[in-house]
Amino acid sequence: MKIELVENIKNFDIEVIFIKDFKALNKQTIKILKEFNFEAKEGKHLLLTDAKKLYIGLSKLKNEDLKIAASNAINELKEYKFKKIKIALAEDKKELDLKTLVEGLLLGSYEFQKYKSKVKNNSFDILIDTKNSKKNMEELKKDLEDIKTICSSVNMVRTIVNTTPEDYTPITMAKDAKKIAAKNNLECKIYGEEFLLNNGMNAMLAVGRASRHESQLIHLTYKPKNPKGKIVLVGKGLTYDSGGLSLKSSTGMVTMKCDKSGGAAVLGIMDSLKNLAYEYEVHGIIGAVENMIGGEAYKPDDVLVAKNKVTIEVRNTDAEGRLVLADCLCYAQDEIKDIDYIFDMATLTGACVIALGEFSTGIMGHSQSLKKKFEKASKASGELVGFLPYNRYLPELIKSSVADIVNSTSSKGGGAITASLFLDNFIKKENKKKWLHFDIAGAAYKERNWGYNPYGGSGAGVRMILKFIENLNSK
Ligand code: BES
Ligand code: ZN
Ligand code: ZN
Repeated sequence: MKIELVENIKNFDIEVIFIKDFKALNKQTIKILKEFNFEAKEGKHLLLTDAKKLYIGLSKLKNEDLKIAASNAINELKEYKFKKIKIALAEDKKELDLKTLVEGLLLGSYEFQKYKSKVKNNSFDILIDTKNSKKNMEELKKDLEDIKTICSSVNMVRTIVNTTPEDYTPITMAKDAKKIAAKNNLECKIYGEEFLLNNGMNAMLAVGRASRHESQLIHLTYKPKNPKGKIVLVGKGLTYDSGGLSLKSSTGMVTMKCDKSGGAAVLGIMDSLKNLAYEYEVHGIIGAVENMIGGEAYKPDDVLVAKNKVTIEVRNTDAEGRLVLADCLCYAQDEIKDIDYIFDMATLTGACVIALGEFSTGIMGHSQSLKKKFEKASKASGELVGFLPYNRYLPELIKSSVADIVNSTSSKGGGAITASLFLDNFIKKENKKKWLHFDIAGAAYKERNWGYNPYGGSGAGVRMILKFIENLNSK
């Protein structure tokens, strides 16, 4: 699907018209729409082939409503053979926001067909008519390029997440990181298990021990000239989570290819920074590991010593993400000095999905002002978030009688928060207020469509973090 800006389009097969209400329409059109029972509501559409018009209903002409409507339009058009599709940006004094519109089109049209024997091939061009727009062509062109960059990252992340665990191993993730580095001029360091052993990263090493695939520590760096500051992103890249010896149930295991979503989101973000010309130095660190069973598997009752020498009593091998992140967070803070922000992203707990519902990312951390910034960035990006609070009593739950801390509590409640408090043991004092933890277990993957998100991986985290960096950038 190509998207182009054209001034005053004459030649097209069909025009998409978004209808919020009937106010600005002429009597004839209103009569037709009413005859066909069309309503200006989300999910409603009317295709009039003779008039070359596809009417799409929505309740507002902006933000998430417009993205969902644009996605609905594209998915309707996929059923037909139209080649040139017109969408007018400005009409009747109302102008659609180009970025919002294109985001809905590009994210809504994504389909994962890698494993289909028959691939649908209905390509078309979207021509956006810029006549009457208040913005000049240069501004519009830049907006179009920027949103294409972001959407292509989100869609790349979706594909990584959707790819099977046999086709996407820690080595595949490392190869992808190298490709992204070459394309964007990033520094790229890849380390295997020998490095983990030599650097005391025993928690991460233990999780991958029963896998045929060697664990990989990936470190990408984006370094613009004269950076305004330093951001570190750490991602959980479990290319499969069987639960290990604390084996998941057969239904619980299905979809666990999604456990690499945090790492994949880090790759997606790293792939956008250069095109967006952001002025922050950004480090992307990913622990790519597979959690399997076998004679070499790590066990409940084991005690692991993490890179910062904190000792961990393993009580559940399915709480593996926090073990991988623990060492990756230590590595990040040992390697990178004068950090301004450090964020980790992970499909960490089912408890987060219970707490916030399956559409929202859980955000946790010590800094209220940083969380406030993310309230703003998430809203502007279209990603849903909820904030889960710490308190003075919860840290008690992760204390161990055998080692310093346990990797899984016996308490049923607050599992997303106690997981975050576990990670807090691996955040250096000077970075406490610079750190946030993003639990994307709910939003990252779903076995159905929702809004402009398809079945499977959603690319959760990418748009929200890019928006946060954009907000810093424009200060
Ligand atoms: N990868 C899972 C969490 C998850 C659940 C991701 C649902 C996506 C959807 C994680 O490694 C896990 O298994 N967590 C356990 C932790 C428990 C053993 C303390 C969980 O949530 O049950
Ligand atoms: Zn697990
Ligand atoms: Zn996991």
